[in-house]
Formats: sequence, structure tokens, C-alpha cells
Amino acid sequence: MVNVPLQERQYTQSFTSMSYQKNLNIGLFGYGVVGSAVFEVLTHTPSLNASVTKICIKNPDKQRNIDAGYFTTDKWELLDNEAINVVVEMTDDASAAIEIVRESLRRGKAVITANKKMVAENLAELVELQQKHGTPLLYESACCASIPVIRNLEEYYDNDLLHGVEGIINGSTNYILTKIFDDKISYTNALAQAQQLGFAESDPSLDVEGHDALNKLCLLLAHAYGIVAHPSELLCHGIHRLNTIDSEVAKAQGAQIKLVARALKQEDGKIAAFVLPQFVKPPHLLHTVRNEYNGVVLTSALADEQFFYGKGAGGFPTASAILADLSALRYDYRYEYKKLLLQSPSELCEDVKLRVYVSFQDWQMLPVDAFVEIHEFYSGKAIHYRKGIVSLKKLFKSDWWKQPGVSLILQEDGIAKQEKTNGALKEKIGLAAS
Ligand code: HSE
Repeated sequence: MVNVPLQERQYTQSFTSMSYQKNLNIGLFGYGVVGSAVFEVLTHTPSLNASVTKICIKNPDKQRNIDAGYFTTDKWELLDNEAINVVVEMTDDASAAIEIVRESLRRGKAVITANKKMVAENLAELVELQQKHGTPLLYESACCASIPVIRNLEEYYDNDLLHGVEGIINGSTNYILTKIFDDKISYTNALAQAQQLGFAESDPSLDVEGHDALNKLCLLLAHAYGIVAHPSELLCHGIHRLNTIDSEVAKAQGAQIKLVARALKQEDGKIAAFVLPQFVKPPHLLHTVRNEYNGVVLTSALADEQFFYGKGAGGFPTASAILADLSALRYDYRYEYKKLLLQSPSELCEDVKLRVYVSFQDWQMLPVDAFVEIHEFYSGKAIHYRKGIVSLKKLFKSDWWKQPGVSLILQEDGIAKQEKTNGALKEKIGLAAS
């Protein structure tokens, strides 16, 4: 699983056939796993006519493998430099990043960022800034690293026909769960490996508590359905509360546990969106997604299921999306936010019933009215569990399920109230339902 150095990779320059007008003079913010991979890739892609002018870093004392003259700790050296026409923002600090992005867009510098937290928390403002200053902001690498899911949702899928988006969109948690289930490695060791391999965030609680997947889900919602939701508006739970009995229950039913983000159109046309761990078993496409890979299943009225699959974390997979965004800037590509600005956006829906499994150490941890219906229960010496139906709205307003000693997992057929068929949609557009 160790990243192969670029020099040893089968490397073909894919930009030679296009004729470009602009030189891209890049101001790079951040020189960590992704920033250094971007720098390395750019030195191997002369045909892109893109080169790094200056790199802004936090810690000047760290040993780095390139000429020290590239580096500065003063962001204004990049922002004030009129020759820099593209800012590539690869930091792990959402608050510092939004300042950099605001200032760059205001000064007419195009921005490419992998900072999903910054984009998700400020999307409404970022859309407005792009319109106001006519400067593009691209963030394909911020969601599922190497998988071009944002641009496909933006350009290809009409929201009327898009029935749902569900996916494994965090590489670190998928890596950890794969190691636990397939290789019998402990959670702690698997997390340490994910950190060592450069998959995890600097603060790995963002990965394991589900926040990273939630931030990415906000980006998917904007480009799939034109919904701009702040992460705090959506229900999210990570893998940090999973326990041994949960793994045993999963194995007994031939399933694995995966962290799944989803946005699903309901019967009333509204969108149910949340991130939860889920029991997933074959033939579900997401069951095949292992290690740091991501997978996104799109369901649409006419095409039924389509599956996007690829590496979702790591320096070079992320750099591949950044390169694609740089290349797109050469022909003045920008997100139009068609579903948000040109059509009437969809709305979020809370009125959904979920089939869940909840394990807990102590009866006092479970409110008596937690479940709408109970279908199965088990009571052991150290742990108990219940399976049944809960209300998404009620869950969102409570926090008993977030406490230590409680573990909440969506069942395989997790949405109890969901538009199941595509017949109605086919009828709507004048085709016979098959
Ligand atoms: N920490 C993130 C993940 C990195 O594991 O998916 C890529 O966004």
C-alpha cells in the first residue's frame, strides 16, 4: 500500500494534444503529502505549461526535498505577486484556507483546492464570490481524490433523473475497516497505518467520526441536486464507536461494515442525506471497495446503477484530480452550479425512517422511545443490541447514539421509507416503465 515514487510509475503526459493559451503560474499553499505530490507531478508535466512560482508553508524548520528558495511563510508574497494567476490551496486548516481563497478570488486568481472542510463550510459564499469576481474555484480533488465525480455530477446528470448518490467517500475509514475485517488488525493499528500512509487527515478524528465524509457529501449534494447545506444540517456518525460484537453481527450475516454517505431522492422529491456506518454485503457494489479506495454508486431513472471507483486518498491520486483541474483552467472551465442557479434546487428531507442496529453496554444508554418499532433484540452479559426502525428527524435532534458505549449502524436495507422504483420517473418523462 506504500505510494510508488513517481519516477517508477508508468507515466504518460496526457496534455500534449491540446493547444493552450495561458501559462499557469502557481502559488502553492501547503507542502504536505498532497502539496509535495502536486509539485512532483508538475515537474514531470512540462506540456501543461504550469509551474510553481512560490510555496507558502507553516513550518520553515521542517526538512524539505526541494530548493529552499521556493518557500515562504508569508501568504502575501503569493497573494501580492501579480505573476501568480493560479492558487493551489492544499492546507489542512479550513479557517486559514478560506481567507486565502477569498483574497485570491477577489484578486482574480483562479483557485484549486482539496480542502473539503473549507468548501463545505463556506459553499454559499464561495459560489457568490466566484460570480462576483468572475474567477473560478475548482475542487475535484476534495471529494473522492482520483474519482471525477464532481464534474460528472455537474455536467452530465440532470437532477430530475438522478435518483440517488451513495458512496464510500473517505479512504481512511475504509482502509481501517478493511484491515479490521480482512486482515484482523486492531482498530488502533489500522488507524496508525492510515496515518502513516498519508491517507488520514492531520486530525484523524475528522475521518473516524465521519466529518470528512460529511463535508464531501455536502459537495456531492451541491453538484447532484443544487442543495447548499452546511455540514451541521446533516446527520453524521463515524466508525469510532464500533465494537467487537458489531463485527461479529456483521460477519454472522455475511456482511462487512462500511462508512456510507448518501443522498437519496424520496417519494416527495426531497432528498434524504446522511453519513452512517452500514452493514454491506454482496452483491452490493460498495462491498467490493477495499482499503483506501472509494466507490460511488449513482442511481438514475434511465441508466439504473452506475459505479465510480478509484483511489480516494493519498498524494498521487489526489494530485491526479488537481492536475485535471489545472488542465480544465486552460480552457476556462468553471462550475456553473446549474442545478443551484439555473433550475429550482431540491430540498432536504428529514421525514425518513431508518432501519438500524444499535448495540449498547447499559440499558440506561438507550431512551425508551428511541425506536419507532423493534424487530429483534439480544441481551448478553457485557452488551445488548436492538434492531428496528428509528426516525431520522428524532435521531438528529438527540445525542444518545453518539455516547461512548453505544454503536449505531444502518442495516443493509436501511431506508424504511424510500422511493423504490423508477417507474414513476420514467412515466414522468413519457417512457414506459420497464
Ligand atoms: N482523509 C481523507 C480520506 C483524505 O481518508 O479520504 C482524502 O480526502
